[in-house]
Amino acid sequence: MISNNMEKALNEQLNAELFSSYLYLSMAAYFESKNWFGFAKWMKKQSEEEYGHAMKFFGYINEVGKKVTLEKIEKPKNEWQSHLEIFEEALKHEQYITKRINDLVNLAIKENDHATNNFLQWFVKEQIEEVSSVQKIVETLKLIGDQAGSLFMLDHELGKRE
Ligand code: FEO
Repeated sequence: MISNNMEKALNEQLNAELFSSYLYLSMAAYFESKNWFGFAKWMKKQSEEEYGHAMKFFGYINEVGKKVTLEKIEKPKNEWQSHLEIFEEALKHEQYITKRINDLVNLAIKENDHATNNFLQWFVKEQIEEVSSVQKIVETLKLIGDQAGSLFMLDHELGKRE
């Protein structure tokens, strides 16, 4: 049995995943506007993934007989100063999402909610990947500094994301 408290927390996470999707879409729009199409494609894919995460919560909440309640999605930032600033923000955001997922697991354990704990384990694993992939890009951007040629190469590389 899923508690009302857990239902609320799951709906809040659904909203946080939708915001993630919106934030990465805003980052994609920024890159598009600056003609960095590889970076833009990577961010669009990231945004789609986040929408997928939100839909996993949507599906689970319904599956356990609770109700999805959609709330307002916060307006994302839309201006940045550099590639590095964007990816550092993405990294901070993923660390924040990881904390939220861990808090949800803690709540499931506290409530003896094994079903939700089991459902959340997919996200625990996914967050390791999410943080790691953004972290790698942050490190690469730090190495690149202001070498335009290397930045173009990274743009080409990230544009290959399927
Ligand atoms: Fe859905 Fe990037 O966490």
